[in-house]
Amino acid sequence: MWHFLARNKQAAAMLAILTAAALVVIFLATKGSSYNVVERIHEETKDLSESAEIFSTFTLPSDDHFMPSVGNGHIATNVFSDTVYMNGVYNGRKGESRRARIPAWANVRLNSTLTQTPVYSLNTKHGVFTVTVDRERSIITQRIFAHRYYTRAIVNQIRVEPKRRIDPNHIHHEIWIAIKLMPGADSKDIEFPSPTPEFINGRSVWSACGKTRVSEDPEYQPLPVNVCAYWTSVPNHLVVPHHQPRVFTFVMTADKNETVARQEFIKVLQEDGEELYDKHVDQWQKLYREASMEIDGNLQLAKIVNGIWYYYLSSLPSIETYQPSDKYYGLSPTGLARGGSFEDYEGHNFWDTEMWIYPNILLLYPDYAKVLLQYRLENAYVAAELAKITGNKGYRFPWESAFTGGEVTQPCCPEVAEFEQHVTGCISFAARQYLAVTRDEDWLQHGGCSIVTNIAEFWASRAVINYTTGLYDISNVMGPDEDHSNVTNSVFTNVVAGYSLYLAQYVACLCQSYYEAKEPDRWADIAWSLALPYDTTLDYHPQFAGYKRGDVIKQADAVLLGYPLQYPMNISTRANDLLYYESVTRNSGPAMTWSMHAIGQLQLEDNLKAATLFNRSYEAYVREPFKIWSELRRPDVGAVNFFTGMGGFLQALLFGYAGISVHLDKMVIAKPQLPPEATKFKIRGIKYLGAHLTLEMQVAGTTLSVTSLDDQWPLTMFNGKYNITLVPGLTVTLVGPGPFTIHSVHWKDCKLPADVIGQNYLRPIGS
Ligand SMILES: *[C@@H]1O[C@H](CO)[C@@H](O)[C@H](O)[C@H]1NC(C)=O
Ligand SMILES: *[C@@H]1O[C@H](CO)[C@@H](O)[C@H](O)[C@H]1NC(C)=O
Ligand SMILES: *[C@@H]1O[C@H](CO)[C@@H](O)[C@H](O)[C@H]1NC(C)=O
Ligand SMILES: *[C@@H]1O[C@H](CO)[C@@H](O)[C@H](O)[C@H]1NC(C)=O
Ligand SMILES: *[C@@H]1O[C@H](CO)[C@@H](O)[C@H](O)[C@H]1NC(C)=O
Repeated sequence: MWHFLARNKQAAAMLAILTAAALVVIFLATKGSSYNVVERIHEETKDLSESAEIFSTFTLPSDDHFMPSVGNGHIATNVFSDTVYMNGVYNGRKGESRRARIPAWANVRLNSTLTQTPVYSLNTKHGVFTVTVDRERSIITQRIFAHRYYTRAIVNQIRVEPKRRIDPNHIHHEIWIAIKLMPGADSKDIEFPSPTPEFINGRSVWSACGKTRVSEDPEYQPLPVNVCAYWTSVPNHLVVPHHQPRVFTFVMTADKNETVARQEFIKVLQEDGEELYDKHVDQWQKLYREASMEIDGNLQLAKIVNGIWYYYLSSLPSIETYQPSDKYYGLSPTGLARGGSFEDYEGHNFWDTEMWIYPNILLLYPDYAKVLLQYRLENAYVAAELAKITGNKGYRFPWESAFTGGEVTQPCCPEVAEFEQHVTGCISFAARQYLAVTRDEDWLQHGGCSIVTNIAEFWASRAVINYTTGLYDISNVMGPDEDHSNVTNSVFTNVVAGYSLYLAQYVACLCQSYYEAKEPDRWADIAWSLALPYDTTLDYHPQFAGYKRGDVIKQADAVLLGYPLQYPMNISTRANDLLYYESVTRNSGPAMTWSMHAIGQLQLEDNLKAATLFNRSYEAYVREPFKIWSELRRPDVGAVNFFTGMGGFLQALLFGYAGISVHLDKMVIAKPQLPPEATKFKIRGIKYLGAHLTLEMQVAGTTLSVTSLDDQWPLTMFNGKYNITLVPGLTVTLVGPGPFTIHSVHWKDCKLPADVIGQNYLRPIGS
């Protein structure tokens, strides 16, 4: 009954102390170290929900690394953390640059979670985290979500539902709910002045506009970034009449532009509580109508898949918004809700985006794939500068980039920035796959032709003819295996470089009516004669020239030739690469290695081995109950929430089990089969040349259905015997292992890239 006491000042002061004490308790509870610490510290909390879409628990994870996030691509936070991050807001000079912390003026806590046992749930399809407390006289439900339409807003709604019962002692009493806003300490990254109070829409609110302290690079970013936030006051308690339910809405908005933050804030406050929530859920449901992956028979797998899409989409911008979206600053390996620390890769962009995350997004949400490529296009002029500085031509994309697009690799590791040049080839590979899936002429005209050709220019300037071998060498590089630095002719690097060169020749033809490419045939010549280390005796690919057999490696590197690069090779070579590199990959490497090996074994039809490797690709990395991914195997952690590992895992499902592959002239489905223990695996909303397709694998067989087609690109499927014209509404049963090839009419009269490298010049150089 402390609200009565609060009426006199002395008691109010005492209450302040009590509240402070409660704060500490709440804080400890979040950390999970309140009591019986020892027992709980290693025990993972269980997900009690039987639904594939919902993760529920009575106990939050003891390590708050493994708390889930809410986000919408503009703004994101980890539930109950003291931090909110915003797209494109970093603080710190170059290698120090990391996501800038905004105090969590959206972190509203219920005191009753301390005494009652709440249920915590993440609904991956509605994009909401809920806390439900069943109290003596009421049921309280707190919803926490980053609004998918009002994208500047993080919303907390607390619904109090009085229980209907006749209790003579309580009938006339109001229900009091103690709550607390816990934004955490002042931000070290953003200099906010003291918040300004005012009344808006009858609500007491606060606002503050601050600036990041240090800009990334004065040359490209002369000014710090502005961050403006508005938030509602949070009282010490909510008071509800005993007879009727009520919803209280608390809002925080943030934007670089004060007017945008303010207008959004006002608009959200004007909305009816339930309508506000429904608008949010509608947008999430639209995303899932666009595409989904459904698994029956293996609940854990289905949950992990739903978790991944929830976390991915939470870091991607909304398509429909109240006010136009900001420029998008890329999808980093730990998403938008993290990236304030060194371990979480500081919110920077790496090759992880293009090679690991993007392929999944491209297949189901090609519009988002375009958004990801756009980040690279917008930073192309910085990549041109970097190429110049290092004595090369064209575009050289940095190993790590953030706000300016310039190199922001951490000071620890200058060699990755210097040598992991393959990132530039990976961007070209992503462009290639984008063109294969969309044939987006508009994209080519607005930067696509230019980025593809300039990347080829870069590789052409990096390749040096070796007169002893008659081949071009690329030296002083590092492949994905970061245990070997400064090597020559890394097979992975040379294949992505060769592909980049060939793609530019192809694109030069596609773009010829509006873009002039300098010497497309010379690029193809270089690619043709680019060295590709291959051991004829052992019939495998040494990782680079001079690789010592037996040397331990960090992660998948040469095996990436088979997938995702789909470099043509003999099946024996593929098998040898997989077998050998599996034996020398260290256990402390990241998850993605094993998903790539799983795909390889599926191609070789060793399903048992594939299942073991597939299990290895997630089992030790997924943390309960919210399916958060760690970079390293349990009990180690590394970066979280590790989008890159998730990406490899999804690829194993889409391109391994479902057997899909994307080529410039076709989409192929080969040996589609169910993942371990599943009885159904349905991929809805596969996008190919404007068509929407559904692939459904069941124990009885696989079907492909056509939802819609783009008239410009009629599709035909060849099943090994017949050509079948695909029409909307058609469902085809895929009999046998295939391959089933889906293709359309030609795209212009352009010769497809040869994509063969490592061939000696047959004629003297220079003639
Ligand atoms: C929060 O709950 C604790 C434990 O029941 C209680 O001691 C404390 O007074 C409460 N604080 C507030 C502000 O209600
Ligand atoms: C040319 O290739 C040979 C054989 O791989 C190698 O030994 C030599 O160092 C290379 N020459 C140069 C100039 O890199
Ligand atoms: C990389 O190797 C070259 C020789 O190819 C050498 O000159 C250079 O110093 C090396 N750089 C580093 C950082 O090890
Ligand atoms: C692939 O196998 C064929 C037939 O055994 C052989 O002639 C060819 O040299 C092999 N290719 C490679 C790259 O090993
Ligand atoms: C995956 O591997 C782990 C550890 O090797 C094992 O305990 C688990 O049962 C496996 N899970 C499946 C689904 O095979």
